[in-house]
Amino acid sequence: MCGIVAYIGEREAFPIIMKGLQRLEYRGYDSAGIALLNGDMTVYKKKGKVKELLDFARDKKTSGSIGMGHTRWATHGVPNDVNAHPHLSGDGRLSIIHNGIIENYNSLKAALVKLGHEFTSDTDTEVLIHLIEEAQRHDNLPIEEAVRVALTKVVGAYAIVVLDQDAPDRVVAARKGSPLVIGLGENEFFMASDASPLVEYTKEVIYLNDEEIAVIKRNGDLQIKTIDNKIQSPFIEKIDLKIERLEKGDFDSFMLKEIFEQPRTIQDCMRGRLSSKEGWVKVGGLEQVVDRVSAAQRFIIAACGTSWHAGLIGEYLFEELARIPVEVEYASELRYRNPIINETDVIIALSQSGETADTLAALETAKEKKALIYGVVNVVGSSIARVTDSGSYIHAGPEIGVASTKAFTGQVTLLTLMAIHLGYSKGTIPRSYYLQLLEELEQIPHKIEKILAKDKQIEAIASEIKDATNALYLGRGYNFPVALEGALKLKEISYIHAEGYPAAEMKHGPIALIDENMPVIVIATNKSAYEKIFSNVQEVKARKGKVIAIVSEGDKEIKAIADYCIEIPDTDEPLTPLLSVIPLQLLSYHIAIMRGCNVDQPRNLAKSVTVE
Ligand code: M6R
Repeated sequence: MCGIVAYIGEREAFPIIMKGLQRLEYRGYDSAGIALLNGDMTVYKKKGKVKELLDFARDKKTSGSIGMGHTRWATHGVPNDVNAHPHLSGDGRLSIIHNGIIENYNSLKAALVKLGHEFTSDTDTEVLIHLIEEAQRHDNLPIEEAVRVALTKVVGAYAIVVLDQDAPDRVVAARKGSPLVIGLGENEFFMASDASPLVEYTKEVIYLNDEEIAVIKRNGDLQIKTIDNKIQSPFIEKIDLKIERLEKGDFDSFMLKEIFEQPRTIQDCMRGRLSSKEGWVKVGGLEQVVDRVSAAQRFIIAACGTSWHAGLIGEYLFEELARIPVEVEYASELRYRNPIINETDVIIALSQSGETADTLAALETAKEKKALIYGVVNVVGSSIARVTDSGSYIHAGPEIGVASTKAFTGQVTLLTLMAIHLGYSKGTIPRSYYLQLLEELEQIPHKIEKILAKDKQIEAIASEIKDATNALYLGRGYNFPVALEGALKLKEISYIHAEGYPAAEMKHGPIALIDENMPVIVIATNKSAYEKIFSNVQEVKARKGKVIAIVSEGDKEIKAIADYCIEIPDTDEPLTPLLSVIPLQLLSYHIAIMRGCNVDQPRNLAKSVTVE
């Protein structure tokens, strides 16, 4: 859950690494550090954002054409200068950056202390560099061999880069469970947690596999070995990522840019996958396994956070349109119980990053039980994308704001395509409805544009409720997961406590919270349950709650009693979440900005959670 970046070549490493760290800052931002080999091992570390490190190092020695940097999301040890990476060996000749967790660090540390090692930080990572130092010293090993030997003793997850002052012609990198990509340039190499720091230098990359170690030399040699010492042939892939996608452009934040990108990202997700005119829908990955998927006894959707909310919408879609029973599981729960999963089940893993540790582990559990594993992922080449039997990318492009927005609508779009495809091929929806859904789906980007045009109105509503300390989100049917998602968005970026509920559940408890200070955001677009939601709104009003209603264009009844209304275009009910979530994203965005919060990097969070 940290970001790592490294460089070896002919240029000055410092600016490349600092820029790379800024690109990776979404992965963690409580402290940052850099190590440069320039005759000495020069290390600078600073609590806070990458900018603090940059300011600190600006007037210091930053020369060197080998170096590495780290931006941290703390697991072991509070965020401070000492716990920031890189960490040094006892003699200061070796340094390491690490993303992951060394789970057995306590026992390793105790053994190393007995051997005379002294530690300065509270981190698990410092133990690993001492372990490497011990292996190197004990058998007089070259650094790459010392790293290999040390890693055989480690339990946990890691993506690491190691520098050795006495081997200034090489960098050693390794991974297990945390991502690491190597970029191949002209007489230069880059290493990073994802491809974003590399794209302006190269399009050729190697994704390191679990338990592989790469030794990269300045003379252009690149060797990859497994931890059990088998030489591997590197597999070079081309990446297709444009730099503009990694920048804010004219927007004040990545989150706002990503909210406004949704008409295009949904279009990208649908491109080549449907034509209402010609009456077809096809989802590449699904076609490869369509027989097994159509015959599935059950789908299990495994995900975390916002992706889990998208999964809940998937449950409604698959059950209604394709009549396939679905269970939606928090990946963290699925992995630690003894779930009943069998060969006739299909596990759909939903993940923006494709690196979420709990989701990955849940897939391993399902794999052991021989279920078919299908991935719905955004980040191309990510770990989840690589372990699944088949899958589909949502093509939302890099999502950098920590709060997921365009990935959510991308996931829901993809699940909708799958459900329509399966429903039609299984005969559970008639052709007329099938064609209607396809036509409607093609209209969604345009309808989202109409909602985005209401940004000023939504901002004005935000200013009315920005000082609330609690908020309730209510929705029914397809809009219940949207209520959960709206509440999560508000919580994570504005730090207002918010809960999402099925509207009818309100009277079973949450109604006790309602008074004149409680904003209640009601998503009331459902055609099938309109009267019921209308009653729920009345129940809130009777208790003086402040109602902000998301309604369909032309609504009269709820509009007459709600305090504020945001009208959104009408659509078929299964497609509603793609529209109703947009005003909720904007509402939380504006509230957070009005409260002075950093929407792209909310406190305590990180974009991809690669630890348990
Ligand atoms: O990368 P993933 O989709 O697997 O991430 C899952 C969650 O960590 C993520 O959705 C998180 O809840 C977001 N911060 C929500 O905005």
